Amino acid sequence: MIILGIESSCDETAAAVLAAPRSVQGHVVASQIDAHGPYGGVVPEIACREHVKALPIVIEEALQASGCRYPDLEAIAVTYGPGLAGSLLTGLAAARALSTRLGIPLLAVNHLHGHLFSPFLDPDSPDPATVYPFLSLIVSGGHSCLVRVTGPGHYQLLGTTVDDAAGEAFDKGANLLGLGYPGGHRIEALAVNGDCTFHRFPRGRVTAHRSWPDELIPELCFSFSGLKTALRYWIEQNPLPEDEPETLSDLAASYQEAIVDALVQRTRRAWRMLGLNTLAVGGGVSLNQRLRDRLHEAARADGVQVLLTPPAYCGDNAAMIALVAALGAAREIPPTAPLDADPSPHPLF
Ligand code: KG4
Ligand code: ZN
Repeated sequence: MIILGIESSCDETAAAVLAAPRSVQGHVVASQIDAHGPYGGVVPEIACREHVKALPIVIEEALQASGCRYPDLEAIAVTYGPGLAGSLLTGLAAARALSTRLGIPLLAVNHLHGHLFSPFLDPDSPDPATVYPFLSLIVSGGHSCLVRVTGPGHYQLLGTTVDDAAGEAFDKGANLLGLGYPGGHRIEALAVNGDCTFHRFPRGRVTAHRSWPDELIPELCFSFSGLKTALRYWIEQNPLPEDEPETLSDLAASYQEAIVDALVQRTRRAWRMLGLNTLAVGGGVSLNQRLRDRLHEAARADGVQVLLTPPAYCGDNAAMIALVAALGAAREIPPTAPLDADPSPHPLF
């Protein structure tokens, strides 16, 4: 089955052609970083307009890269949420128009489910059917989640962030250090030559409160907002000397270590608590080499298999959306559904 995937939940416009079960024939991602950079974060209205401009182009380019033509397509898979409402609507409208014109099924995919399965886009990765149940760590600009996956469509959210996401923590830290947006990769580049023991930033312990949701395990949750506040206080008390780039590197390394340490600690606790022996990792922050190395180190010590997402599919992309549909874990939107059917902007698993 040949599936066209479309993704537009945040600030990347993406299209991909996937031959089921998991062979990517062509994939294109148009980033909007230049449009949002001057504002220090994603501006929803700008994102929406950029998607409208980019969607026809990326769809056409993905098709060309795959060597397929419109009549070869057998289904359209599209992200319906979570994400920015306007951004989601643009992708849904394009997908809907194509599925109606081509007379093929329209399959709605949860964006987070895409990240859950993105490691399996690596042609050398095992068939997902052979590794259930597995633990998934999703770390991106909008999400930090630990999920137990028992099969396509069967997920248990174990832990999440109670405030900022891991990528947000990187971006806010980079902003405080004057590195620009987005800043994860810039903190990583500076940290390479830094001393991560220079300053100990908080690892954000989470404790349950009275209205704590039953399904979430506090010991498997993250909190990153105190970390950026700690960095702000540090900078206020110790103005960064311009002639001492080593201090900036040491700070970046210490800040990165606090995020990575919190992620590795909760992830390791999760596989131990639940007795899981495979870890799948996805999302933009999983590009971070220090995180990759530390997860490998912990997994090796505990005899856990680690499946990392190929770099091309760590950030938002449409191949992972098509993959979820190929695995049979998408929801079909019937052609008779009302034309004003809403996307679902809120996080859900
Ligand atoms: O998955 P993604 O492309 O978009 C979202 O769905 O959010 O993730 C973007 C996030 C940004 O916060 C960015 O700073 C972070 O991933 N990121 C990194 C690195 N590369 C991107 N964080 C740490 N180290 C990196 N090398
Ligand atoms: Zn994402």
